[in-house]
Amino acid sequence: MISLMINGKQHHYNDDENMPLLWVLRDILKYTGTKYGCGKGLCGACTVHLDGQPIRSCVMPVSAVGKQKITTIEGLSNNGDHPLQQAWQQLNVPQCGYCQSGQLMSAAALLAENPKPTEQDIDLAMSGNLCRCGTYNRIKAGIQMAAGMKVTSFNIDDFALDKQSIDEQAIDKLAMDATAKGVKS
Ligand code: FES
Ligand code: FES
Repeated sequence: MISLMINGKQHHYNDDENMPLLWVLRDILKYTGTKYGCGKGLCGACTVHLDGQPIRSCVMPVSAVGKQKITTIEGLSNNGDHPLQQAWQQLNVPQCGYCQSGQLMSAAALLAENPKPTEQDIDLAMSGNLCRCGTYNRIKAGIQMAAGMKVTSFNIDDFALDKQSIDEQAIDKLAMDATAKGVKS
């Protein structure tokens, strides 16, 4: 039997040890926020954290998890209020939304490790997360906003958003929240 600590809760799994973690999370334990995309470790849709590190759960056998703590999108914050989730809402980042839990998990791991990433840091950390809707600029802007940094990749007019919703006060508040929470998953 395999014990899994997921989002602070203990689970037990008693089936094929070679089953990819993604299948165990989604089909057996019903953590369906984590998505299946390519199944080959190429798209990032299935990204979860193992002890805070982003991994592709579609290519990791459940037996390889060991004692490492798993965090899924359901466990990123208690009330959907991680600074990244707040920034995502402010900027209307998702389009179809399918890739976004993986995007958020990769972004959260980045900010936990590097609270003030450069554009290059962001590009590198997020390069394995594909978005078929092409929301890359909004994703980068959301990371910068959550980090309390100047948003460099985002032109409000390109996305016809309400300019009032992206005011400096909102950015300041997110920066304060991010600092208070230590931007950890
Ligand atoms: S579904 Fe895992 S990387 Fe694509
Ligand atoms: S928002 Fe549709 S795939 Fe990324």
